[in-house]
Amino acid sequence: MAISIKINKTQSSRIHLCDFDNIEFGKIFSDHMFRVDYKDGEWQKGEISPYGEISMAPSISALHYGQAIFEGMKAFKGADGNPQLFRPLENFKRFNISAQRMGMPSITEELFMNGLKELINIDRNWIPTKEGSALYIRPFMFATDDFVGVRPSSNYSFIIFCCPVNSYYPKPIKVKVEQKYVRASEGMAGYAKAAGNYGISMLPSMEAKKLGYDQIIWTDGRTHEHVEESGTTNLFFVVDDNLILTPALDGNILQGITRDSCIKLLKKEGYTVEERKISIKEIISFAKEGRLTDCFGTGTAAIIAKIEAIGYEGEDYILPEADKRKVSNWLYSTIYGIQTSKVEDSFSWIEKV
Ligand code: COI
Repeated sequence: MAISIKINKTQSSRIHLCDFDNIEFGKIFSDHMFRVDYKDGEWQKGEISPYGEISMAPSISALHYGQAIFEGMKAFKGADGNPQLFRPLENFKRFNISAQRMGMPSITEELFMNGLKELINIDRNWIPTKEGSALYIRPFMFATDDFVGVRPSSNYSFIIFCCPVNSYYPKPIKVKVEQKYVRASEGMAGYAKAAGNYGISMLPSMEAKKLGYDQIIWTDGRTHEHVEESGTTNLFFVVDDNLILTPALDGNILQGITRDSCIKLLKKEGYTVEERKISIKEIISFAKEGRLTDCFGTGTAAIIAKIEAIGYEGEDYILPEADKRKVSNWLYSTIYGIQTSKVEDSFSWIEKV
């Protein structure tokens, strides 16, 4: 079903202010945003308007109780110069899974996809083309009732904005295994892309930064013995360059779309991929034996974030040099190649705008 969107274009584009050769992640925003509000039990008419500040009541529960969710997606230019998206329906589905967990209304596929495509089409000149770059897309929804009691809101706003980006991590990262704080445990919202899951990572990652690390690896809430995900990515460990281990989707970790893409590509290439519980002791033993040949995080923003060292119990375990990594280098060039139409899209992951 076609839905109509009100379009109010900017009179003065800011695109000349963007230095496309030196983009910093998340600091510059494209000209427009898409917004649709939910009230009286239904989604209202969507609108594309100039990117800018929004007003809200100070009491909204998104601010007080964290009833807020988001997604991360990217648009690229294809071989024909037109915008294209990578597996956008997976983001749409995960968005509604997050909404359900947070007691929020689901959004229709028509609204999500039409708003998204219309916005990308209008801001298509903002899609950067330099190697490693993309137009990062941030759909999000938050509770807007002017009410400070704790109950699910009746009103919500759904917004999508975009920013041209380069890779999230410009160089390989050092990660610290976190064994004091917990991100999620059974029955919590670990699988949801809920704002609070990222809010609680701020203090542990600040503490890790003070010790010289770029990120943390979360461990399970019961024993702190099993690895889950990093602050911004899912995790993969490569043993002897052919066995690939990644934590299973046990409800505590995010169902990463890049994670799923990596698993599918690796299996097709003939690698053995084990999705299971992974103890940090097992990983450290592989590292000590020199068998941990690669280790990386996966995510929309980061694509493939190579891990250069793992800090565990005060010791740093150093991984092989980044440009010698067989698996992570192959995965990066394959995924980014598919996204930018330089590699065949054999899984039909690309959707034209
Ligand atoms: C993404 O990879 O899109 C994320 O949402 C991670 C992050 C930048 C918080």
